[in-house]
Amino acid sequence: MLETRDLTINFGGHVAVNAVSCRFVPGTLTAIVGPNGAGKTTYFNLISGQLKATAGHVLLGGRDLSRLSAAARTHAGLGRAFQLTNLFPHLSVLENVRLAVQAARGGSRRLNLWSLWSDHRTWTEEAEHILQTVGMHAQQGAVVANLPHGDQRKLEVALLMALDPEVYMFDEPTAGMSRDEAPVILNLIREIKSDTRKIILLVEHKMDVVRELADRIIVLTNGTLVADGTPAEVIASPVVQEAYLGRAPQDASGGHDARPHPDLPSSGGRSPS
Ligand SMILES: Nc1ncnc2c1ncn2[C@@H]1O[C@H](COP(=O)(O)OP(=O)(O)OP(=O)(O)O)[C@@H](O)[C@H]1O
Ligand SMILES: [Mg+2]
Repeated sequence: MLETRDLTINFGGHVAVNAVSCRFVPGTLTAIVGPNGAGKTTYFNLISGQLKATAGHVLLGGRDLSRLSAAARTHAGLGRAFQLTNLFPHLSVLENVRLAVQAARGGSRRLNLWSLWSDHRTWTEEAEHILQTVGMHAQQGAVVANLPHGDQRKLEVALLMALDPEVYMFDEPTAGMSRDEAPVILNLIREIKSDTRKIILLVEHKMDVVRELADRIIVLTNGTLVADGTPAEVIASPVVQEAYLGRAPQDASGGHDARPHPDLPSSGGRSPS
């Protein structure tokens, strides 16, 4: 289980994440939603260790990770999607994924030419398998720096899969992707979800995606956790209606122009089109 206890960060007086306590269990995909600037990405950064909390704790399997670096948290099982700055841009797609597999599996091996050679083969095969899964087998020889945006995003997921973490964290994984590219990423998340040992956290504005993938939704507003429940419960809750629509729930069936995101639904879950 992943748990945050009173997790808080204060940016020079602005409390971007405010005492968020939440537990995430394996076999569950939790969508984290909320308006722009609500603190979703900051919450992720506090969990993964990119940011150090002002107060509070992050625990995985009962172990307190709060004082660990981002790298040590990755090692402990927290998988945050790579950013391309973490890659070797002049190496091929396959080489990048193989290095990730190697980093995850090869840890403390003694240097021995024979085992190095056979491990290398195993890692390469595993990397090829992952690239097949993400539909990038044909591009495995391509240099990463030359990949189109959609393929770069797929590669980020491939690298995450190579790490095989206990917790998968996706922050708007299909942002900037074309209509035909996005389903590939969503299929990958579905595939990861089929492994019930995994904990998945997904920040996503597109409500149709949330509705389809999420087992649970939590809502952040102004850094505070304001709702937590099944998708049906949370979407219908007054607090969400108000947070998203900026008005009282009884008015929520009206126009949609006040919505901060075009994909967020009304309580009936239908939008005029
Ligand atoms: N490094 C930082 N220094 C100061 N303020 C920050 C920093 N990072 C984020 N913030 C502020 O914290 C608040 C939360 O930002 P965050 O990026 O977490 O929101 P978000 O919910 O991810 O929004 P979006 O949906 O637009 O991605 C914002 O007010 C933002 O300006
Ligand atoms: Mg964000």
